[in-house]
Amino acid sequence: METSSKRSGHPPETGQSAEPAPCRYGHFSADGTEFCITEPSPPRPWANIIAGPRLGLAVSQSGSGFTWIDNSQLAVITRWQQDLIRDTSGKFLYVRDPESGTVWSLSPAPAWTPHDRYLCRHGLGYTTFETELVGIAARWTLFAHSFETAELWRVELANLTDRPRHLEICAFLEWNCGVAPAPRREFTKLFLETSFDEGRGAVFARNHMWEVPSQRHGHWNTEFPYISALAGTEPVSAAQGDKGAFLGRYGYLRSPQALREEDWVPAFGRHQDPIAALRSLVALKPGERRDLGYVLAVASSRPEAESVLDRMTNVEAMDAALQDVRTGWKTRLAAHRVETPEPSFDHLINDWVRYQAISSRLWGRCGYYQQSGAYGFRDQLQDSQVWLTIEPARCRDQINLHAAHQFADGSVYHWWHPLTEQGNVTRMTDDLLWLAFVTANYIKETGDLEILEDTTPFLDDSTRTPLREHVQRAFERSFTRTSPRGLPYIGAGDWNDGLSAVGLEERGESVWLGHFLAGLLKDWAEVLRRTGRADLAAEYGERRKALVEAINRHGWDGEWYIRATLDDGSLLGSATNRVGRIFLNAQTWAVLADVAPRERAARCMAAVREHLTSAAGALLLAPAFDQPVPEIGYITRYAPGLRENGGVYTHAATWAIAAAAKVKDHELVGRLLTAINPAAKDPESYWAEPYVLPGNVDGPDSPHHGRAGWTWYTGSAAWLHRVVAEWVLGVRPEWDGLRIDPSLPPGWEHARMVRPYRGCTYEISIERSDAVPGEASLVSVDGEPLKDNVIAPPCKPGAHHRVNVRCR
Ligand code: GLC
Repeated sequence: METSSKRSGHPPETGQSAEPAPCRYGHFSADGTEFCITEPSPPRPWANIIAGPRLGLAVSQSGSGFTWIDNSQLAVITRWQQDLIRDTSGKFLYVRDPESGTVWSLSPAPAWTPHDRYLCRHGLGYTTFETELVGIAARWTLFAHSFETAELWRVELANLTDRPRHLEICAFLEWNCGVAPAPRREFTKLFLETSFDEGRGAVFARNHMWEVPSQRHGHWNTEFPYISALAGTEPVSAAQGDKGAFLGRYGYLRSPQALREEDWVPAFGRHQDPIAALRSLVALKPGERRDLGYVLAVASSRPEAESVLDRMTNVEAMDAALQDVRTGWKTRLAAHRVETPEPSFDHLINDWVRYQAISSRLWGRCGYYQQSGAYGFRDQLQDSQVWLTIEPARCRDQINLHAAHQFADGSVYHWWHPLTEQGNVTRMTDDLLWLAFVTANYIKETGDLEILEDTTPFLDDSTRTPLREHVQRAFERSFTRTSPRGLPYIGAGDWNDGLSAVGLEERGESVWLGHFLAGLLKDWAEVLRRTGRADLAAEYGERRKALVEAINRHGWDGEWYIRATLDDGSLLGSATNRVGRIFLNAQTWAVLADVAPRERAARCMAAVREHLTSAAGALLLAPAFDQPVPEIGYITRYAPGLRENGGVYTHAATWAIAAAAKVKDHELVGRLLTAINPAAKDPESYWAEPYVLPGNVDGPDSPHHGRAGWTWYTGSAAWLHRVVAEWVLGVRPEWDGLRIDPSLPPGWEHARMVRPYRGCTYEISIERSDAVPGEASLVSVDGEPLKDNVIAPPCKPGAHHRVNVRCR
């Protein structure tokens, strides 16, 4: 198969690369903003999660995928089946050449007719398929409009031959219009209704039943609150609303019967297996190109859906919308950039992980492996830190959204579903505290204490209450959940969802939560001091002191910190355990939260090096559990080496990089960074996308050590960006300034960063120099040496400063 882009019938687009392919299946474009997949069958689907604030779509290199609005689990518009082996499910464009009888699709799936040329370019906010077959070149770009609730398909066809061609193009999708997955199709299809609007050439779909708890009229008694429609720019020569009629009895998506039929008997209404298929005829003169497109509109009423179609179903509007999406991402990510000696790493940090955090985690709340739709109380709060340096107001909004999902007693939902406001009450013990964590980081970045006066209600008390009070109640609730030894209870888990039974009787204790709380108490004491609450600040200071003492008295195992105690008092994460002897977070946070005295910090990080460092990254624990232990939780039920059970859990693996940087273990920083870089992997063993982070990579107790999965939907995306910026390049916001404290990995002789900070822009250039006497860097701002390595504003708003850093 021809895989280079040379034979393209199209002019090259910007962002397309001339770089050689570093892996068999594809490569970054020259500017890094696209990943170009040149082989249609990588080991796993290599997807793009393309979302605007409301509507989103997932699409893999095969062309499979689906569309949702507002909630990727409860409001899924098109049907899709998660089958990561066959990956042939979704919305497709077929082409038929009546002359030769050839049927193909403009992506590999569903026809899987080998193209003469294939290229899939996943970009920020769009995916483009470029294919050629029987002398017809096609370019198909899918994207979500940046504010209209519409998915747009921009198509270009070109006749590369010297004879006239008469093609049939057919768009196809299955309606879901509700909760997904919906495996009982025989049931759910009973409520769907389609219709064909001749004038617009559009298929409309609605669902008279929405499988969510109804507020007013009881179960299964609610209308799905959206109308969806598919229309194209070309006159429709035939339309179909029934899957059976389209595929034929026992027919295949690969080669639907209707494509071979001249006349279609359209079937719309309430008694079909509902799909939308639209066929158009496209005649192309020799060498002619044709621009066309399709719109999948979703709105809360039929007139609104019609109006979206009427505005968007023309190529000019679509081109402008695509331009808008591209500019949107470029502008959004422009203010904060890094430059390191490793280009693939820069592509990841500057563009892909932040796109991943915003598009997949915050807006879409969706991945190819997990369709969540919900807000995790701790998850999306952490993710929202990705906005801090670029649009901090959005982080503030996220903080307030979460504050509004707290109960008056300080407890919070573990997660909740926007749209239906269904929430999950658990006995997790850390969720509520992330409110303080992210608020403190927001204040460090912006200096804006006013956020504390933002008011939101509680779930069970409509009185609008300032954020400082929300945070206060979270702390107070945590204080009451403390063991007689002064350690926090672990309850049904803390950060680690899988430790779901360790402390169900409220006796088991958490050492990690102790670290986390100790760090927070330090930060919040400072917030209190700055807002005139010296009394409470002193109290928090005392609490921290007592907690740190308790942790160091009861939590130290000899060479590292234990992770927790079970309800029966036995230890978890101790050298006395056969499995689960050492846990990563209990070491890294001892360092990050300044709980470990210097000597213990060195020892527990040495233990991380020795027991938890693998070529795939830092392991969450070792050795993996090999038998279910009901008293510990479902973590022990995972296959050994997978996800939290002894895999590299990427989210926590980013914290290990920060901790290594904090103890100035440059070698470990380098090792863990390289280990986590998906672009540096061999796809044959790693499997997953090279351009975004996976949630987990198999650890050494799996026979597939180094195999990655659960891509896109992971909190590591926002964190890797933060850790690289703040700990590796070491540009870290503190209460009154930007601290400069790099820990460059060996082999990185220089790095650069441009970053806004409180109204100014800093251009920071970092050089390694043996002349630097100790670990503290030598820093100058606009040529003036800086004494304490903290750049303190205020400066003139809009001012540009040059910072030169020399470090070890
Ligand atoms: C999942 C959860 C997250 C948790 C992590 C570790 O990613 O969404 O909240 O911290 O697992 O268990």
